[in-house]
Amino acid sequence: MLSLPKTVTIIEVGPRDGLQNEKRLVSTGDKLAFIKALQQAGIEEMELTSFVSPKWVPQMADSKEIVASANKIGRQFVLTPNERGIGAAREAGADALAVFVGVSDSFNKKNINKTTAESMAALKPLILQLKEDGIFIRACISTAFYCPFEGAVKTADTIHLCQQFVDWGVDELSVADTIGMANPAESYTLFKQLKEKFPETLLTAHFHDTRKMALANIFAALQAGVDRFDTSAGGLGGCPFAPGATGNVATEDVVNMLHRMDIPTGIDLNLLYSAIEKIEPHVSNPINTGMYTLYKNRL
Ligand code: HMG
Ligand code: MG
Repeated sequence: MLSLPKTVTIIEVGPRDGLQNEKRLVSTGDKLAFIKALQQAGIEEMELTSFVSPKWVPQMADSKEIVASANKIGRQFVLTPNERGIGAAREAGADALAVFVGVSDSFNKKNINKTTAESMAALKPLILQLKEDGIFIRACISTAFYCPFEGAVKTADTIHLCQQFVDWGVDELSVADTIGMANPAESYTLFKQLKEKFPETLLTAHFHDTRKMALANIFAALQAGVDRFDTSAGGLGGCPFAPGATGNVATEDVVNMLHRMDIPTGIDLNLLYSAIEKIEPHVSNPINTGMYTLYKNRL
């Protein structure tokens, strides 16, 4: 007997993960119009931007303006890598922060110039302080299945990293297949264990669609009890420091699959297409995800 959640929450990561790897600089106004249109489509949780070094990720250099100007509907996350990013994000008015760490050392060194242990040691006092201050914290766990430099990642290592975050009181774990290499059996196995081990923590699955297994991985994660998914409108996205991390799974394709299975998300697909139309002229490549292509061809 198929066991699926009654409803699903979509966390839209397009304005952050979707745009961070985009070579054409998108103007702050165009990003804000995209964010507003996504909110109008019913998105209530979103990664707006990141407070990282503009030398490392030039596209995110306008994070302060984005946070100041975006509507505060639902839960709007910003990514922060270190104390400086956390300080700047809070000063700008952000009250839901995402921290990010890879399970594998090599990816972490490339992404934030620290080993996994160094990152965790630096994050611990910051997270404890933020929790004292009542800030919502989402911990993003990269390379939870595979690392572009080290290959397969041990499930025990991923669980150990999650355990530390849970012990420090984070509100949410977003567990990522950074380079889109996991298969549905691996997705089910890891998420089933995480659900059982951390029943009190919000658990979100974050799939990149490099090998076109993301929808199958989501279906597997749904059966493991996961009811939160990070997705990106138009399938935009990828981490600049993870070779092979192409686009995130497309919000419209996930929402369509869920609605076809009678699982509500609160998102209006037609308004979501309008949001994608807002950003498409400003990114380097035409958007050709399954559902958006059908929409464009009026099929
Ligand atoms: P570093 O070079 O080791 O740090 O970079 P540093 O402390 O030596 O600082 C270097 C420069 O950056 C200095 O400026 C600092 O002031 C500045 P300079 O003196 O050269 O002019 N700096 C900052 N500027 C703005 N905001 C800050 C900040 N911190 C330092 N917060 C650092 C370390 C973490 C800064 C750098 O490695 C970095 O910014 N990395 C960001 C990487 C990134 O954004 N990756 C993508 C997000 S993760 C992801 O996509 C994965 C995810 O989607 C899940 C998945 O799919 O796996 C979440
Ligand atoms: Mg990602």
